[in-house]
Amino acid sequence: MSGGVETVRFTLNGVEREAPKGMLLIDAARLHGVDIPRYCSHPGLKPEGNCRMCVVEIEKMPKLQTSCTTPVQEGMVVHTESERVLEERRRVMEFLLVNHPIDCPICDQAGECMLQEYYMRHDLQPSRVELEEKIHKPKRVDLGPLVVLDAERCVLCSRCVRFCRDVAGVEELAIKNRGGHAEITAFPGRRLENPYSGNVIDICPVGALTSRDFRFKVRVWFLKTAESVCPGCERGCSIHIEQYQNEVQRIRPRENLRVNRYWICDFGRLDYRWINENRLLSAEGPSGRLRPEEADREAARLLREAKAPLLVASPRMSNESLFALRLFREKALPEARIAGGSFREPWEGDAILKRPDRNPNRRGMETLGLAGGPEEALRAGPDLVLVIENDLLGDRPEAKELLTGKKVIVLASNRDATASAAGLRVPVATYAETEGSWTNFEGITQTFHPVLRPVGDSRSVAEALAGIAAALGADLGPVDAGTLRAAVLREAPQLDPARGREEDGRVG
Ligand code: SF4
Ligand code: SF4
Ligand code: FES
Repeated sequence: MSGGVETVRFTLNGVEREAPKGMLLIDAARLHGVDIPRYCSHPGLKPEGNCRMCVVEIEKMPKLQTSCTTPVQEGMVVHTESERVLEERRRVMEFLLVNHPIDCPICDQAGECMLQEYYMRHDLQPSRVELEEKIHKPKRVDLGPLVVLDAERCVLCSRCVRFCRDVAGVEELAIKNRGGHAEITAFPGRRLENPYSGNVIDICPVGALTSRDFRFKVRVWFLKTAESVCPGCERGCSIHIEQYQNEVQRIRPRENLRVNRYWICDFGRLDYRWINENRLLSAEGPSGRLRPEEADREAARLLREAKAPLLVASPRMSNESLFALRLFREKALPEARIAGGSFREPWEGDAILKRPDRNPNRRGMETLGLAGGPEEALRAGPDLVLVIENDLLGDRPEAKELLTGKKVIVLASNRDATASAAGLRVPVATYAETEGSWTNFEGITQTFHPVLRPVGDSRSVAEALAGIAAALGADLGPVDAGTLRAAVLREAPQLDPARGREEDGRVG
């Protein structure tokens, strides 16, 4: 162990190991590649030790111990796979399955259920309780706007109750009744509707809490996943985007201890429909649809004719796209003014994750010297405005006055208000279809990766700018994300996604 952390030595399944002093055994074992099964323990929640699935044998202690509540001690000799431990796990499994409906083939959690997984690994015994004798509990309970409960499948691990109380800071869920009749319920007169409620879906280890949004859409083994970053606010929570048939089906949090720990807000969880819908599929000018080369030539003609062109960058553009825009101005249009900013109204942040600024890359835009405020720049009287990934009119309808009388070209992924009002629209790919990076309010840069094929004629912003530059007779050079990132880092090393990664190995 390094970094001045006090450590202890212990023996794990016959091998001498080290772990930080005070670490729980379940985590110390995992540190050395030994995965102890668990239901109630979750790294983001305080330990409770109620499911008993994680029991281990510790020499000189007569009873088996729950490894999720026992700190590792100097000289401990621990067995996680002894006959006694395996027998106890089988018993716990049998107990948990006594009243479980065993409806796995129709359960929406199939493929990612810890009950199924552990049954296959540790139990595999037929039930001694007939189906008709099982205690029946409520099914398809509407707990809140996002979450549906099937109380029969619940293993009463209380993760959902503890999440609401300890992380979201609200008393919305509780366990009522005793013994075999115990079940999860919302407090009388309350619903599960805190702004982080969707996280209980991810942490429920079985199919008891499922997502109303995702239920029965796709079997999880058909999904393809990419590491990404939420564009919803300047926190930039780490997420997984999951797609099927080139459409986003689900967004889930990705563990990142420095940014969002294990959670995302409900807004971020549902902020994906715009990627699937209302997309701008091809370039369009006053005379209708244009092929990409025609659009490049038309944009170049308009820019060449303009006397005072203005390029408006956005705090939603990636660092790589922002750098490409600067190259574009330098090499293709040195007389243009350039400004960055958005009219997106802030929302109320909170002390958990949500930040007031609803743009994911304000910090990156400022670091690259592109901030300046679109309002002031628009009032300075440009005759042509090139707007990139920025719905100025949709975010503030009064901005119409600022754009009146000006020629407008947009590079947009969606047919938003600004794109609809523009004289020339050029489609670009969303963050889910491209590679790039955003830098959050704390200066942490994270990369996102494509999970979808770009739709229609859309290209990355950098490719679209390179195409227009070529039509203006300028060469931007290679505009792939890797080349652009290397150029960004030469100028602004603080935007490196690798910075700080070694601290926990999980960001980026
Ligand atoms: S609903 Fe899920 S998370 Fe909540 S207690 Fe039951 S099994 Fe645990
Ligand atoms: S807190 Fe912000 S970044 Fe995180 S999930 Fe919510 S909207 Fe997205
Ligand atoms: S995981 Fe340890 S008792 Fe539940």
